[in-house]
Amino acid sequence: MKFFLDTADLAEVEEAASWGVVAGVTTNPTLYARIGGKLADFETHIGRICKLVDGPVSAEAVGEMRADIIEEGKRLSAIAPNVVVKVPTTIEGLAATKALAADGIDTNLTLCFSVPQAIMAARAGARYISPFVGRFDDISEDGLAQLADVVLAITNYDFGHKVEVIAASIRSAHHVTQSALMGADIATVPYSVLKNLIKHPLTDRGLESFAADWEKVVNA
Ligand code: E4P
Repeated sequence: MKFFLDTADLAEVEEAASWGVVAGVTTNPTLYARIGGKLADFETHIGRICKLVDGPVSAEAVGEMRADIIEEGKRLSAIAPNVVVKVPTTIEGLAATKALAADGIDTNLTLCFSVPQAIMAARAGARYISPFVGRFDDISEDGLAQLADVVLAITNYDFGHKVEVIAASIRSAHHVTQSALMGADIATVPYSVLKNLIKHPLTDRGLESFAADWEKVVNA
């Protein structure tokens, strides 16, 4: 499983990229608003993220109708070769996905919550599909079970082009572990979760005892 970072924060992207584990970035309007982003700076900001990371960077088209999504998608994809256009999983989004794919533009179908949505997204030409895990948990449903169903359904078929499932709306190490075990291609993870994934109390305890024993060697 690959890790994407789910953020619009340049400092987070720069720091996490230095760890050698970030294969891409996903942004959305909420994440851009969270860092105080302004409309006029949006494309420049996406361009900066694209330079920091060696991999796909999802930038969301906010239009609802296909013509708007297609126009926005073309503008976004011109920012950098690694931009992927995030498109809503709707009828209009499917039509836009088909048109953008015909132009060689990769899309990431966002806000996917069911197997039929995922299959339709893949058939329309989506390069990435993002089933949201945490938002199911928020409404007391099993987001991981939904993700497992999507992973299985997508791997059952050949869509004639490469399709990768991104486990999205990830809130915990448990979500990451289970996404990996069920074979999700990618997990897009917030910085706060990503930095905790490497931690383990037994690692800390082991380091403490090695340091204490080395002191004995030094002082022997
Ligand atoms: C995915 O690409 C989305 O940006 C993201 O994972 C949404 O997560 P949230 O439900 O925590 O907002």
